[in-house]
Amino acid sequence: MRSFLTTAVPETPAARTATENIDSTKAKIAMRLEGLWKTYPGNLQPAVKGLSLDVYDGEIVTLLGPSGCGKTTTLRMAAGLEVPDLGDIFFGDTAVVMSSRRLCLAPNKRNVGMVFQSYAIWPHMTVAENVAFPLKARRFPRKEIRDRVRRALELVGMAGFEDRPGPLLSGGQQQRVAFARALVTEPRVLLLDEPFSNLDAKLREQMRIRVKLLQRRLNIALLFVTHDQIEALSLSNRIALMNFGVVQQQGDPRLLYEKPVNEFVRDFVGRTLLFKGTVQSSNPSGQLAIALEGASDCVVFGRTYDPDSIKTGSLVYIGVRPEDVEIHPASGTKVPPGMIGGTAQAALFVGERIEYQVEIQGQGEILIYGERHNPIDEGSKVWLKLRPEGHSAWASNWSHKEDGE
Ligand SMILES: Nc1ncnc2c1ncn2[C@@H]1O[C@H](COP(=O)(O)OP(=O)(O)OP(=O)(O)O)[C@@H](O)[C@H]1O
Ligand SMILES: [Mg+2]
Repeated sequence: MRSFLTTAVPETPAARTATENIDSTKAKIAMRLEGLWKTYPGNLQPAVKGLSLDVYDGEIVTLLGPSGCGKTTTLRMAAGLEVPDLGDIFFGDTAVVMSSRRLCLAPNKRNVGMVFQSYAIWPHMTVAENVAFPLKARRFPRKEIRDRVRRALELVGMAGFEDRPGPLLSGGQQQRVAFARALVTEPRVLLLDEPFSNLDAKLREQMRIRVKLLQRRLNIALLFVTHDQIEALSLSNRIALMNFGVVQQQGDPRLLYEKPVNEFVRDFVGRTLLFKGTVQSSNPSGQLAIALEGASDCVVFGRTYDPDSIKTGSLVYIGVRPEDVEIHPASGTKVPPGMIGGTAQAALFVGERIEYQVEIQGQGEILIYGERHNPIDEGSKVWLKLRPEGHSAWASNWSHKEDGE
């Protein structure tokens, strides 16, 4: 078996490529969760409902979702801290949970490391003692413990802190010690439950980068839990977005952002502007051409996941990501074809951009992002241009009658 503490994997461009583009036909499954169900005693609703997820060697998979959606429960089942009511868990080819056979291996019989939100650094131990603890519990020889602890601390950038007592560390340092302790047994899978949530924004950013680099070097599988979408988008090879114990969509971050399968995914990952439109043409696979309401000759392309109900003639909301709209000051009285006219009612400077509330004939008020170098005066006429394609279409409840047209 490979050992990343005794022979560290060099950070080569090849290793980098391997982790960024996981080819599921070639990479090996490090952990497979299959049809997991869990209802806590006394609860009516299951915390996790039929969850299935594969994590490949060298991959970062994130469980993302709102509070109470079942992320920690899933992670605890993977670690062996909760027993699923139903379902199987495999580490590589080995079953560690098989509900039909009442098999459920204890945490120390699974090849996992775990880092919790609270770090759980023992205050009565030094840094080295904290990191050595899992090895002592497994009765490793003294010399090997010393070597592994040294390498694990080097990996997380904490060499030289061996004798420092746990309480005399900053939050970020405690967190790195928790990582070293989770890595010291050389797990195939590392489970992280909101490990950055106690850190301030700057430190979180640094830790995000540190974890990404560390994971590339070690090439281990990482299942990461967060409810922070920026963290999920920036760190993950794949995201599984959960709600009410169910995975709503899983795929690479771009897929969830650009092709959300339902309104929950659309609204949880990034922001979406909703424009009114009428479907001009459609095909059975859900590709649509949509005419924008209140604009002459402005047609955009997008898709729906509900081609049975959204078809030619349907009134829809077009889901548009804010960066897919350009805002320009009007340079005449007649709105050019392909553009939408409006009035910038309010301009809000928010640092990296300016947000304009724009009143659009036939659409209502929509918040549009503009770049900060060319501010537009409040009250002035503007022209909007949407990216021609890549939008999503959603069932709507608007009607021409309501608009008085
Ligand atoms: N030990 C427990 N006993 C009873 N119910 C529990 C227990 N742990 C979690 N739950 C319930 O199970 C559901 C899922 O909880 P879980 O901790 O998995 O959510 P989460 O997605 O991790 O949320 P958060 O983002 O707040 O950490 C919630 O409704 C929660 O109240
Ligand atoms: Mg949780």
